[in-house]
Amino acid sequence: MKIGIYGGSFDPVHNGHIAMIRSALKSGFIDCMIVIPSVRNNFKLYANKLPAPYRLYMIKETVEGLDLKNCYVSDIEFGIDGVSYTAVVLAKLTSDEYIRDFLMANDVKRKKAEEHHEFFWIMGSDTLGTFETWYKPEEILKYATLLAAVRPGDDTDVDKAAASIRKNLGGKVEFFRLDGVECSSSAITTSGDFSQVPDPAVEFIKRHALYTENTMLEGVSDDARKQFFDAATWMYNYLGAKRLLHTLNVGYLSAHLAGLYGCSRDKALIAGALHDCAKELPIEKQSELAKKYSGDLFTEKKILHSPAGATFAREEFGIEDKEILDAICYHTTGRGDMTVLEKIVYLADKIEPSRTYMDLAPIREAAEHDLDEAVRMTAAAVRDKFISQGRELHPVTAAMMRDLHM
Ligand SMILES: [Fe+2]
Ligand SMILES: [Fe+2]
Repeated sequence: MKIGIYGGSFDPVHNGHIAMIRSALKSGFIDCMIVIPSVRNNFKLYANKLPAPYRLYMIKETVEGLDLKNCYVSDIEFGIDGVSYTAVVLAKLTSDEYIRDFLMANDVKRKKAEEHHEFFWIMGSDTLGTFETWYKPEEILKYATLLAAVRPGDDTDVDKAAASIRKNLGGKVEFFRLDGVECSSSAITTSGDFSQVPDPAVEFIKRHALYTENTMLEGVSDDARKQFFDAATWMYNYLGAKRLLHTLNVGYLSAHLAGLYGCSRDKALIAGALHDCAKELPIEKQSELAKKYSGDLFTEKKILHSPAGATFAREEFGIEDKEILDAICYHTTGRGDMTVLEKIVYLADKIEPSRTYMDLAPIREAAEHDLDEAVRMTAAAVRDKFISQGRELHPVTAAMMRDLHM
């Protein structure tokens, strides 16, 4: 097969990207397209507005929602340590085994998936001029032909750039005609005008309250921001889409609440983001990790992931801060004498934007001006649920309620 590969930040995905995909597929050069959201690319290490999992799942939902045929989204960069240079990504993606498994996972028949493939690296004609300065450009050209998009009326000197690449590096360069709107992700997020963002992506952005003030992480240190982005990539190995986005949403909301209640935004961001990191580990593993953090305090299956998460975040992600670890440990149950950070993570977990299990508007409203009241309201809802299910509250939850005069 002839396979186009299109990498980018997609922060957010917009109609210009969609036009690129559609035009390339129509060009006759390729049979299918693989879209690769960047995780840590050389130009924008941590410069993206959103951590990689949001961008990956946003474009996945968009490709599905728009029903783009023969277009597949790849998470290959999550499995690459360090900077995901194009040459490194291509080396991995184009290996026989990897590409076969990837295509078959996307419902391509084995016979086709095992064919000899030819690869095309899709790019804008405007980046052709700088291609020779990329990391190992001659390697890239060993794996793929450059397939550059040209707009009608483009004034960049694409022929000259292509001739130089052919002469200096001995690679192949082809062009295809790009039809459609011109737009840029940064212009969209700066202006707040999302009219050039496809509907499925708009829906995704609304559901998770992205590109809002909370996700700009104002008042958060650079180090914490980087740690948050790294945590997102790390947890991708352990959590499915829904839970990963939930736990990251809790990070954003916790950082926002920390700003309101005089608590460290850095700690809140990290504790919130990691709170559910152990939730999809095998239950025996959760049990073992939970014991390490809190002995026999928690034994109920549903709660185990909380203390287990504290151990997992410490041992596997390197978090040593006890306040953060305790906030992870008690996020499900609460406890007596809770710190502000613990209350924030407990609350944010129950009301982050994508939560829809009940009408959360009153609690969300309270959370903006009275932390204890919002925690009380949340705890009351939990208590009602337990009573209706005939379950007993954990003693530490009862202690939290006594503290809150419930
Ligand atoms: Fe949880
Ligand atoms: Fe959670």
